[in-house]
Amino acid sequence: MRIAIRAHAKINWSLCIRGERPDGYHELDMLMQCVELCDELTFERARRLTLEVDGQRLPGGDRNLVIRAANALNDALGKRMGARITLKKRIPSRAGLGGGSADCAAALIALNRLWNLRLPMRTLMQLGLQLGADVPFCLNSGLCRAQGVGEVLTPMPDAPSIPLVMVTPGGGLSTPAVFRAWNGDASAAPVDVPALAQALRMGELARAQAISRNDLEAPAVALMPEIGGWMERLRGLGAPFVRMSGSGSTVFAAFPDEASALSAAARIPGAVFTRTLAASPEA
Ligand code: C5P
Repeated sequence: MRIAIRAHAKINWSLCIRGERPDGYHELDMLMQCVELCDELTFERARRLTLEVDGQRLPGGDRNLVIRAANALNDALGKRMGARITLKKRIPSRAGLGGGSADCAAALIALNRLWNLRLPMRTLMQLGLQLGADVPFCLNSGLCRAQGVGEVLTPMPDAPSIPLVMVTPGGGLSTPAVFRAWNGDASAAPVDVPALAQALRMGELARAQAISRNDLEAPAVALMPEIGGWMERLRGLGAPFVRMSGSGSTVFAAFPDEASALSAAARIPGAVFTRTLAASPEA
């Protein structure tokens, strides 16, 4: 048996910090969505657990979220099952696109099938949350409000596919470093997430821009000023909606049609064209 699965990147249409927890994590209120850009994984039964990565240098062994997902399943069941796993990496790392979390969620779903474990989604969500705050979202995908540390999920009605241009400056940023650099006010009024989701559904990108914010933009720009420069550049190319995703360093621009997105992408070396995904094809 061989399972092939795609692990999709996510973007944050908004990210508001609502408080700090004693364990160092932050209470968030976010609107997130998966995009077509994806990693590809395959899983086959094997005696040992192995992971072969193509496309990027990634931490190996227990530091890799795919191996950690396999170990978490084995630990939960008191087993030592093996698998031969391959990962074709396209989502940039340290980019705020949830690449590691997406791979982790894909591994939980695929190994649950490969090993015939029949664990319910609720259990995969619990295991996933221990591995990363964005993993529960990646197990669900679609257009989704994520609160708590990222695990309280409210699916939003699907929005039509939106063309996007992404730029990931400077080799990425460390998520803990960006959160540490945040010195904003957690009591500030949060984004009206349902209104933002509605604006996206109606294709009203300028209104979405006016409603949205990402509280991690300021600390990320302080750590990497070129992020601000890229946001200006994308606005200058006519994008009605420009934001940083997650903790950066990726900035993305949403365009009303593919032609304008493709023409903007063609002017920026290294830019990636993609589209939002309405709902997970794997779920
Ligand atoms: O859970 P994950 O490993 O993805 O989080 C990486 C880091 O991001 C955490 O160690 C923490 O510093 C920060 N974080 C946070 N609050 C969240 C999610 C992540 O402070 N809700």
